[in-house]
Amino acid sequence: MHADESWWRHAVIYQIYPRSFADGNGDGMGDLLGVLERLDSLKELGVDAIWFSPFFKSPQKDAGYDVSDYKDIDPLFGPLADFDAVLAKAHSLGIRVIIDLVPNHSSDQHPLFQAALKAGKGSAERDMYHFREGKDGNTPPNNWPSVFGGNAWTQIDDGQWYLHIFDSSQPDFNWNNPKVIEFFHDVLRFWFDRGVDGFRVDVAHSLIKEEGLPDIEEISTSMTGSDSEPTEEKPHPFWGQDGVHEIIRGFRKVSDEYEDRAMGAEAWILPLKKMAKWVRPDEYHQTFNFAYLGTQWRCADLRRVVDESIYEFGQVGAPSTWVLSNHDVIRHVTRLAYDEIPKQGDGIGPNYPQPDEARGQRVGRAATAFMLALPGSSYLYQGEELGLPEHTTLEAKYRQDPTFFRTNGDRVGRDGCRVPIPWEADAPAYGFNKTGKSWLPQPENYRRYARSEQAGVAGSTLELYRRLLKVRKEFKLGLGSLKWVEELCDDSTLVFDNSGVRVVANFGSPIALPAGELLVTTQHDLTIEGVLEHDQVAWIRL
Ligand code: GLC
Repeated sequence: MHADESWWRHAVIYQIYPRSFADGNGDGMGDLLGVLERLDSLKELGVDAIWFSPFFKSPQKDAGYDVSDYKDIDPLFGPLADFDAVLAKAHSLGIRVIIDLVPNHSSDQHPLFQAALKAGKGSAERDMYHFREGKDGNTPPNNWPSVFGGNAWTQIDDGQWYLHIFDSSQPDFNWNNPKVIEFFHDVLRFWFDRGVDGFRVDVAHSLIKEEGLPDIEEISTSMTGSDSEPTEEKPHPFWGQDGVHEIIRGFRKVSDEYEDRAMGAEAWILPLKKMAKWVRPDEYHQTFNFAYLGTQWRCADLRRVVDESIYEFGQVGAPSTWVLSNHDVIRHVTRLAYDEIPKQGDGIGPNYPQPDEARGQRVGRAATAFMLALPGSSYLYQGEELGLPEHTTLEAKYRQDPTFFRTNGDRVGRDGCRVPIPWEADAPAYGFNKTGKSWLPQPENYRRYARSEQAGVAGSTLELYRRLLKVRKEFKLGLGSLKWVEELCDDSTLVFDNSGVRVVANFGSPIALPAGELLVTTQHDLTIEGVLEHDQVAWIRL
């Protein structure tokens, strides 16, 4: 058992995507009132913390990741008082609250960017962002691509260009400017003072750009593109520059002014060895483990990524985290139905081969049962407790992700995982609200996945999640340590022990279950004398 039992070392953190969780005022867009009304269900599920994707004032060009006021809530989601109410209720239920910090860029409507446009070339205001002259008249200052497609530079009327690694509505801040650092420390204190327990830091790996903004040698537009993955030998000019550590240490100092708070980094393409440096004792508390998310349900691959994660993070005394789904990737019950995972951020549209639903459900449930037994902290994405699949046939006319527009529909983008979640099978918008409106249309099959169809039903995915979280807490698996049971592992079986629980994952033909009391299993009809089928997981008391 780990001696330090700080909550963030073992927490199960549930991601709420505010636009799609629950809609209290019935306008078709989720809001904080909706969250308030549905919080009890998260208590029942058994999560330790929630993380909110952005609900700040924003023109919503990138679903709120384009912030125009970091200290206020967008009227879409409710007044600030609604957030205070959610925070108070969550705390009264024993649930911690993490919010999103978006420090790489603001909205182009942010007063700081508007001031920079007005103030003109060479001004202190422009130095808050990256403004440059182009090359030979009308060519952008360098060859950097936007993650969402197209170029990372936009030219303004006076001829200068500004940098935006994402959409043109999201200008990048200049983190070499101490005023930017001050600005964000103030934002952190504002929310810490209000009582939030932590922050998830958006695109935390891109804050520092290489001096002189040199061209990229090998271009990849994806945040997970392995072709341009930075390594020690081949650094990338904007992903994972070393200068970022000083900024992280500054954040850590601010969070250490408060008790029991935690910060976690979203950093996509860095190798685990490099990521571990981000969570040294004076840096972030946690970082997302996207290497794990990107691993297929394959015996050897999973074992390798688990070993590497535990080893690398262990080297710096940090817990590993684990995650399978979020608002940027294809939901894992859909993703894992494919042999080859479609590229991160690309999504699945009606023209893509459609997934095998049964396979996805089977593998997806097994992947979750495997993940939740691992030591460290785990992230869940709203709806995955229902086994909710991706909306894979969303028509082009409903698409909102800037990726879709910046690539002329070549990459359909991330809307398919962001569709409002179903609560009640027979209610309007499946209980998302009372009016039936929904900012993205819900597919017909969401009816079957509604919470009302699963609550109390033996073998349902919702009941499986509840049971996994209950047993995980009871045995303190998050604080434990993993030991492979070598004599039971082979090419298609993984078996490990953690804190008195034996976890058996079968990737191949049916196997006899090892002795012990069956604590929880993905295989609904399994008995302790029985056989464990393929793509099934069982937890047994040792
Ligand atoms: C992060 C967010 C993603 C957003 C991007 C730009 O990767 O998770 O949703 O589009 O940053 O802020």
